[in-house]
Amino acid sequence: VGPAADAATAARLIRESTPDRREVGNPPASRPPAVLSRNRAGRDGEDRTEGDGEDRAVDGEDRAEVEVIDAGGRAVIPGFVDSHTHLVFGGDRADEFEARMTGTPYAAGGIRRTVASTRAATDDELRARLRAFVAELRAQGTTTFEVKTGYGLAVADEERLARLAAEVTPEVTFLGAHVVPAEYAERRDEYIDLVCGEMLRACAPHSRWIDVFCERGAFTADESRHILAAGVAAGLEPRVHGNQLGPGEGVRLAVAVGAASVDHCTYLDDADVAALAGSATVATLLPGVEFSTRQPYPDARRLIDAGVTVALASDCNPGSSFTSSMPLMIALAVREMGMTPAEAVWAATAGGARALRRDDVGVLAPGMRADVVLLDAPTRVHLAYRPGVPLVRTVWVAGQIRE
Ligand code: NIG
Ligand code: FE
Repeated sequence: VGPAADAATAARLIRESTPDRREVGNPPASRPPAVLSRNRAGRDGEDRTEGDGEDRAVDGEDRAEVEVIDAGGRAVIPGFVDSHTHLVFGGDRADEFEARMTGTPYAAGGIRRTVASTRAATDDELRARLRAFVAELRAQGTTTFEVKTGYGLAVADEERLARLAAEVTPEVTFLGAHVVPAEYAERRDEYIDLVCGEMLRACAPHSRWIDVFCERGAFTADESRHILAAGVAAGLEPRVHGNQLGPGEGVRLAVAVGAASVDHCTYLDDADVAALAGSATVATLLPGVEFSTRQPYPDARRLIDAGVTVALASDCNPGSSFTSSMPLMIALAVREMGMTPAEAVWAATAGGARALRRDDVGVLAPGMRADVVLLDAPTRVHLAYRPGVPLVRTVWVAGQIRE
């Protein structure tokens, strides 16, 4: 694919080199791209992924720009859209992971340890680490990703995390309301005022989204509503961390405020599922967290069967899920959460795009950005069938090969 290539070129590449178009992930072209319309696929996921069966020629002057690549019968899918990461931080918490594997429960309080090591890092250290993570994502087929702040929790630190994140993605989320930092432990109202005031003003210019960790031990539903409202008033769009560690009000709050996505959704009751099903809020499931914390996996089958739009994301962070691998999320979703391979790949591509309200990525179709992944496998099923094997062979971002 040449430098001027777009999704039409990708469509041609796919047409010429993929034997089974059902493996491609194309939405039917007879209706708007899947990211623009709500998709209620059946259990087999076919109508989420099947192409329209029509060949499209690349004509006129475009032809000179086109390099046809023989994929040798390998599967081609859209680049992954990882709609939830926390990639700007210092240090790690391998000791906590090790302790969890012998029975110590996950505690969100560990976030404060990463806050300390993040504050101690220089901009250059954080930038170098972030760029290394971006390279890691790309190598695993992720072509669009979101990055949150949330390990600064002071005005200058949150501002620099947002600024550094904005160097690598337009999808920056201000998460000053991750936890109340230790120095405000006895003054949480003051901290919330800071988040909604000076910290928000410092971070909003670098950010698209406002997020809050609505959970016991973090922020209550009332506090979360107040913080999200402040973000919306500053021009940011809301998303929520909810129902991760236990039942709670996060999901219903997200629906009530019209959040693009509510993330985790591990502990849901029937009212939560019904609220999501009647809304435009995406349920973003983060199975790397359950893998790494030994909590029960969220029930994707229940959500999909209720008509909820489901996305998969990595939640890459040093505490609850230190992996950036979308293929691993797909494998876990299929093995542990009741998703078909087709549904899981959809959720990791088009679903992520919906969670970020993006209509230009996540689907291979004319007019979309040519974010394309060539797998070293004949079908997308192999992403779940061969867990842990590096099956991503070639990645194109906007038509350009990324090594
Ligand atoms: O999404 N839930 C809150 N935040 C992160 C965990 C952060 C950490 O443990 O450092 C999450 O899982
Ligand atoms: Fe998170």
